Parts: sequence; C-alpha cells; structure tokens
Amino acid sequence: MTFFDARTFNATNLSDKVFVISGGGSGIGAAAVRHLSSLGAKVVFGDVNETTSRALLASIGSDKVAFHPCDVRKYQDVVGLFRYAFERHGVIDHAVANAGIVERGQWFDANLTIDSVAEEPDTSALDINLKGLAYFARVASVFMSHHKSSDQDKSLTLMSSAAGFLESRDLYMYQASKHGVLGLLKTARLSFPESMKGIRVNALCPSFVRTGMTQDLAGKWEGAGLPVNEPEDLAKAIAALAAADRSTAASMLQREEVVAINVHDLPSSGGMDWDHVDQTTGMTGRSFYVEGGLCWDIEEGLDRTRHLWLGQTANDNVLRTQALLKSTGFRKRN
Ligand SMILES: NC(=O)c1ccc[n+]([C@@H]2O[C@H](COP(=O)([O-])OP(=O)(O)OC[C@H]3O[C@@H](n4cnc5c(N)ncnc54)[C@H](O)[C@@H]3O)[C@@H](O)[C@H]2O)c1
Repeated sequence: MTFFDARTFNATNLSDKVFVISGGGSGIGAAAVRHLSSLGAKVVFGDVNETTSRALLASIGSDKVAFHPCDVRKYQDVVGLFRYAFERHGVIDHAVANAGIVERGQWFDANLTIDSVAEEPDTSALDINLKGLAYFARVASVFMSHHKSSDQDKSLTLMSSAAGFLESRDLYMYQASKHGVLGLLKTARLSFPESMKGIRVNALCPSFVRTGMTQDLAGKWEGAGLPVNEPEDLAKAIAALAAADRSTAASMLQREEVVAINVHDLPSSGGMDWDHVDQTTGMTGRSFYVEGGLCWDIEEGLDRTRHLWLGQTANDNVLRTQALLKSTGFRKRN
C-alpha cells in the first residue's frame, strides 16, 4: 500500500504560493489557513461564518492571509472568492475545497407517513459537500489554468471523508456526497492533465477529526483507543498534497506490501500510470484515508487489484469498455 505521514512531512516549497480555501473559518480549514500561513504561503479563505472567520484573521494578523465571505452553494460567491484572490495576487497556485457539513435530518425515516413525506427534505449536505465542492473545483480549474505555463505546479485538493469509500449508518446524504467527491476525482484525474494544463487533483478521506463537527464523538473515539486526527494533521496533509510536485511526490510516498500480493507489481487497470505519474506530473489522482495523521492511498490499490475484487472476466470487459470510451468519447457533443 502507498502512504505518507502527514505529521512528519515537511513542506518546504510553499512559501509565497497562493492558496484559496473554502470553509476556512473553523476546524480543518482554519488549521490549514494557520499552517499554510506559517509556511509563508499567501492564503485567501472563504466561509459563510463571518464571525469565526474574522476572529481567525485577526488572530493570525498577517497581510498574507485574507478572508472573503463565500457560501459555496452560491456559484457567484465562489466566482467572487476566486476573483478576489486573483485580483489580490495575480495568480492562484493551489485550491482546497474543504467546506462541508454533516447530515441534517433523517432522509429515510421510519416515522414518515404518506402525508409527512410530502414535506421537502433538507438537502444541505448534498448542496454544500458535493454541489458546492463541484462549483469550487470548476471555478478553481479555470483560474488556476489561466496563463499557466507547463513548469508551474498547481493542485486542487478535494475534501471527502472515510464515509466517501466506507459504509456508514444513517449518513445517507453525507455518504452520497462524499462518495460523489471521489467520483469527481476519478474523472478529473484523467481529464485535467489534458484539458486543464496539468493541474494535479487529489482527495482526502479523513476518519475522525477533532473539530466542532464531531465534538459529540470525541469521547467515544478516545475511549475505544482509536487513532484520532487533530485538525493540524489534516492541515499538514493539505500542505503535503500541494507540495507534492514532480520533484517531491515520489520521495514523499512510502510503500507497505501486503503479505500475499505485491500490489505494485500488478498493472494499472484504468487510465492512470501509477509507476511513473509521481515523477512526471507530481502526485495526482490519489485519495487518502487519513487516521492519526497517516495518509493511506486508496486509488492505486483499488485500481491495481480490480481483477481480484471484481473478477477477471468482468475486469477484462471493463478494460475493453474503457478503451472504447477513450477512443469514441462518452459525451454527446453539442
Ligand atoms: N471532522 C471530521 O471528523 C471529518 C471527517 C471527515 C471529513 N471531514 C470533512 O472536513 C471538512 C471540514 O470539516 P470540519 O470537521 O473542519 O468541520 P467544521 O464544522 O469545523 O468546519 C466546516 C467549515 O465550513 C464552513 N461552511 C459550512 N457551510 C458552508 C458553505 N455553504 N459555504 C462555505 N463554508 C461553509 C463552516 O462555517 C465551517 O467554518 C468537511 O468537508 C467535512 O465533511 C470532517
């Protein structure tokens, strides 16, 4: 398996790099704003909560850090956030789509009746975690590729969750939104190198992080002796993904072999060239499960072992399907 240790990785190449972050007013986002600022980066963060955001800004007290109000559910707010950052710095190097909320309400509810089900449900988790993130990624891709030269390293980091690839109870819309984030990653990692001038795109899938979102759960996690992520661990992981350009990515990643299978000897079954991509493009197309600051790659292992978990026959047909789609394209041209 491929992994890196966010707690010990030292990002040294981010000084004066320009970051745009959503949901920077508290929790993981606020820790990222602080950490990146301590590394000398220029940070513009957006958030719906002006009170916490302005308090954070005041506590950092650096003219390299700025706040711009932004509700990621509103496309024009997201455009406004990037315009503000671009006008301030003339370039955007790294973007972090972090804003998110937990499940609100109960989507499937045994107490619902044929009358009460008529009341429209709360879709905020989808609207913020997936649609808002997709808005952010779209606008980021354009601002980051504007006047981009081939030697400029740029990255987009998407915040998913362990609920983005595991099964979890009662988190219907949260789970769907975070799975959706990894879906976006899987298509962007193939398309961005060609259409977006080589912007790298990766995702983080944290297990428990000690923030306001999870305050009711902290005792249970600690009681069970499970690894806990501090917001600062995720801040370091965010910095590491941004720092993982083609000169850094390969040396940053470590390998742990599974007893029976040397996963890295298996061929890729999708469009990613895992053997060379870190050296040629820098880290891209990966998502990492994060626990206790350790970041374990999900994508490479899933991809290289598909013939094992899907079966050889089905995988052979998937390969032929993908080759067909690569040559014919899937989208209707309009
Ligand atoms: N805390 C965890 O255990 C955990 C685990 C996995 C993934 N995550 C993800 O990490 C991200 C950050 O979560 P956190 O734990 O720091 O939570 P948090 O509640 O501390 O911070 C989330 C921030 O997003 C902002 N926000 C909410 N809605 C917004 C909107 N519409 N537009 C802009 N900003 C908005 C909030 O004001 C807040 O500042 C989320 O995407 C969350 O799903 C958290």
